[in-house]
Amino acid sequence: MEFDLIIRNGRVVTADNDFTADIGVRDGTVTALASSLPGSAPEEVDAKDLLVLPGGVDTHTHIDQSPEGNVRLCDDFDSATRSAAAGGTTTVICFAYQQPGTSLSSEVAAYHERAKAARIDYAFHLAITDPTDDLIERELPELIAAGHRSIKIFMTYSGSRLSDVQVLRVLAAAREHDALVCVHAEDDALIDHLTRQLLTEGKRAPKYFPLSKPALGEAEAIRRIATYAEVLETRVHIFHVSGAEAAAEIERAQQRGVALTAETCPQYLVFTAADLDRPGLEGAKVMFGPPPRSHADHEALWRYMRRGVISVVSSDHAPARFDDPHGKKAGGEDASFDRIPNGVPGIATRMRLLFSEGVSKGRITLNEFVALTSTQPARLFGLHPRKGTIAIGSDADLVLWDPKREEPVVHSTLWDSNDYSPYESMRLVGVPLTTWVRGRKIFTDGQPAGGPGGGIYLPR
Ligand code: URP
Ligand code: ZN
Ligand code: ZN
Repeated sequence: MEFDLIIRNGRVVTADNDFTADIGVRDGTVTALASSLPGSAPEEVDAKDLLVLPGGVDTHTHIDQSPEGNVRLCDDFDSATRSAAAGGTTTVICFAYQQPGTSLSSEVAAYHERAKAARIDYAFHLAITDPTDDLIERELPELIAAGHRSIKIFMTYSGSRLSDVQVLRVLAAAREHDALVCVHAEDDALIDHLTRQLLTEGKRAPKYFPLSKPALGEAEAIRRIATYAEVLETRVHIFHVSGAEAAAEIERAQQRGVALTAETCPQYLVFTAADLDRPGLEGAKVMFGPPPRSHADHEALWRYMRRGVISVVSSDHAPARFDDPHGKKAGGEDASFDRIPNGVPGIATRMRLLFSEGVSKGRITLNEFVALTSTQPARLFGLHPRKGTIAIGSDADLVLWDPKREEPVVHSTLWDSNDYSPYESMRLVGVPLTTWVRGRKIFTDGQPAGGPGGGIYLPR
């Protein structure tokens, strides 16, 4: 048998297996797994003492999003997917955002065009901000049938949020056409009230942002959407669960049979509300919504991941530059917390953080790490077994990983377009060395291999 690539002697880890093997790749697909493969290949790699993992599947990323007012996220498909590759991720799902008042189909076409620069494979969530009759009755069924099998809605953020009546309408359409609805769940009225109150009291700094978005407001919104999902029998996925109260609501719904799944993100496992208490606007570097909570919440999230209540860890890569009038400073140098764009970069650090904080510190097993960062996201979003595992017939999306190497996070090695990383200098154990997408090497020895393009759209 002929191969284009053989990776020899690696410890191959999937969500439910762990064995030493040679991996043979032909035409972008894994075609052989054996204790010793005969013959040779144009590209051969010795993986002794290293892990070979399925490439990461990051199912919540904001890439080349159309500007919102004065705010522009900095990563396009080239830089975001280059950064993803540096961190061992080989598939992303990002958003095709409906601008209120416009057609979603024309937005999707525009995102397809932009995504031609992607170095890794990709799909889109349909982000609905204006569910008109035409969108619900004509566009949505067509777009779902074309393979866009997930929808994103917001319960907060003016300009993006849907009313409860609109939420129900989208859920009903998703049920009818078999799509998964991803939800940013926070109680908008509560946030609005608390924000006004804090600003009236002169509390404007980033450190007050977590007080405007309390854990109980997140839990309340989850309870509401879970009830809607239960009554309408719709599959719902809760984005960026921040802590114990929110996760407890999800578990309660799951226990009564609601088709509810959930993700968390590394930022909720590392930062606390106290990290926003920095001089000037520095706290904006760790400002994302829902906000980070407490150390007790970190440990609760790990427990909910081990129990399977939270089955996905995504990055929620939302890269606003810090020292930039279109980034965190879009509201000016002295902006109050409500005028600072939310979100942090994290597409390159997602897997390293989960490995270091999770596997190296004994909180999760290696198999659980692969399940959370690759297999379960691929399954949930209709990409498995093509993506999310190492098996005969799967795409050869592979990462060579050194589980022992300890290195600090250095922003310049993350290959994004940002001007900071919220994790700068944090020492992490576990480093991705080489990343292949469908057998094509796209990152090795700290450098991108090749240029933009090469990624393909994944209809689901
Ligand atoms: O703060 C966040 N998470 N920003 C990105 C947009 C979103 O809500 O997912
Ligand atoms: Zn969100
Ligand atoms: Zn997001």
